[in-house]
Amino acid sequence: MVIVGRHNLRRGCNAATEVTACGGRRAVSYRVEASKAHSWSDAQLDALFAEGFPAFITADQEVKKYIGLVREYFPHLDVMLVDDEKGEPVATGWGVPISWSGEVENLPVSFADVLRRAVEVHQTGSGADTFVICGGIVHPGRKGTGVAEELITSLCGTAETHGLLRVLAPVRPTRKHQYPLFSIEEYASWSRPDGLPFDPWLRLHARLGANVIAMAPEAQTMTATVGEWEKWAGLAMPASGEYVIPQGMSVLRLDRDADLGTYVEPNVWVRHR
Ligand SMILES: CC(C)(COP(=O)(O)OP(=O)(O)OC[C@H]1O[C@@H](n2cnc3c(N)ncnc32)[C@H](O)[C@@H]1OP(=O)(O)O)[C@@H](O)C(=O)NCCC(=O)NCCS
Repeated sequence: MVIVGRHNLRRGCNAATEVTACGGRRAVSYRVEASKAHSWSDAQLDALFAEGFPAFITADQEVKKYIGLVREYFPHLDVMLVDDEKGEPVATGWGVPISWSGEVENLPVSFADVLRRAVEVHQTGSGADTFVICGGIVHPGRKGTGVAEELITSLCGTAETHGLLRVLAPVRPTRKHQYPLFSIEEYASWSRPDGLPFDPWLRLHARLGANVIAMAPEAQTMTATVGEWEKWAGLAMPASGEYVIPQGMSVLRLDRDADLGTYVEPNVWVRHR
């Protein structure tokens, strides 16, 4: 769950609701609106997305097949939390509807597969029953203030509003990149003394009532040339082999003869409802 689409942020209009972020921290009121409901300045959007995702996140070729249609079909499932007092966006997140049997075996096999299934239900009109949270980001200056909780809560509310009774998320654990040599199974099993997950983002989902239901060891496959990987990693890669790269949750496998680097990123499936 990775791509947060600032491309979606075009003018439109949508009903807005109020939420209060506290989470034991600073209490602030935010308005929740569809991301397309408001036109924000480039400076505000740059600020919101400043500490988001590594550059290689855009190198999933399968996702590229569906992301345009997803943006076209589901803008109403893309929300923005707004601080009206300061007149700025503080968080955004989005998801898609899919049809899911409720069984682990029927989960999408990858993030691209989530998008493919969403496009399919839309095009066939076959009816969706499940909302999949696909991405979320909090303004760097608002991290640690409880906004992330409100973002997830708002996304669950959006799902309910649209009749999607189940809510899933393929979570991209935010500290996994510090442990790239451990399997996702092992990493996801780590917990703190209080019993909550070791990973901060998994922990937040758990605190909101989500349960881990499966691993997604090959959630995203990023492929690019050696030159692109060297640029993204800020690292010379003189030989074929495996590299630990900045922000990489697993190792990059490089084949210099083929001029190809392949990086497979794991997620953890959680179920909120
Ligand atoms: C993931 C994200 C939305 C979480 O927002 P947030 O405001 O940091 O969330 P919280 O403040 O509720 O943090 C949750 C926990 O992580 C901890 N945490 C936050 N940043 C941390 C960091 N850099 N290192 C370690 N722990 C951190 C918090 O202390 C909190 O811990 P607690 O459970 O003990 O209270 C935000 O960090 C973000 O936008 N990251 C970039 C985009 C991204 O990775 N999104 C998720 C995948 S789609």
